[in-house]
Amino acid sequence: MFERQDFLPGSVAVVTGAGSGIGAAVAAGLVSRGVAVALLDRDAAALAASVAACGGGRTLALTVDVADPDAVRTAFAAAADRLGPVRHAVAAAGILRPAPLTEIDPADFCASWQVNVGGVLHLLQESARTLPPGGSVVVVTSNAAVVPRTSMATYAATKAAAAALTRVAGLELAAVGVRCNMVAPGTTATPMLQALWTDPDAARAQALAGEPEKHRLGIPLGRIADPEDIADTVLYLLSQQARHITMQQLVVDGGASL
Ligand SMILES: NC(=O)c1ccc[n+]([C@@H]2O[C@H](COP(=O)([O-])OP(=O)(O)OC[C@H]3O[C@@H](n4cnc5c(N)ncnc54)[C@H](O)[C@@H]3O)[C@@H](O)[C@H]2O)c1
Repeated sequence: MFERQDFLPGSVAVVTGAGSGIGAAVAAGLVSRGVAVALLDRDAAALAASVAACGGGRTLALTVDVADPDAVRTAFAAAADRLGPVRHAVAAAGILRPAPLTEIDPADFCASWQVNVGGVLHLLQESARTLPPGGSVVVVTSNAAVVPRTSMATYAATKAAAAALTRVAGLELAAVGVRCNMVAPGTTATPMLQALWTDPDAARAQALAGEPEKHRLGIPLGRIADPEDIADTVLYLLSQQARHITMQQLVVDGGASL
């Protein structure tokens, strides 16, 4: 049996949303595997904390709004210039503005599309322009892209659109040996979710048990994901271990979208 390296020595990755939650865990996980990481986020203070959490690995913090295509292009160029040719890219930046159908704010709808879909498009475009054969992309979607959830119309639609973009990118880039996959988390303990919890203990219990009146099943595995649970799956799909996997969406939600 031959040994396959997870990541080539000297590999460089771009990670969006790296200032918090899942993106921060992906960045730290990559650095711990010897990958140099350009951390992109619109929150400069959060980025500084994430870089510190990477514990001295090769990193570059770039304050970027992923909704801005020029900013994303400049960031990829800066990553290549400062760290070396970019081989991997992860889209984890995202926003969640839940509302029942009749109460969706048009500004929230627009912002969600700009970040959750536009941001993914811009990362896929730069990946298509710059990643070499053997390169890989992972887009963080959501189990809401797979099953309907009340008050999640905007979010679910953006995540489903991001998944469609990623599948087409995977098809187009297969010809040049670049893989594109998705990880669809369920309930994960990050600031995005915790910001919605007025009573954290009650919210956790409700997430685990489910809410029949909202047609939510609960979480069969009986735990809420840590950001690292999602990051580990992202790292697997990004790595050489997954070299024959592309255009796939792996749901990581403890069985909640059964
Ligand atoms: N936490 C969950 O339960 C959960 C479930 C399913 C999917 N997700 C998805 O996982 C991804 C990561 O979410 P998280 O839970 O870590 O959230 P988070 O809020 O902790 O982190 C998201 C990061 O994205 C950044 N960001 C937002 N808009 C940006 C923009 N325009 N440009 C650059 N950066 C921007 C934020 O500043 C933040 O640092 C998101 O795409 C989210 O939709 C999360």
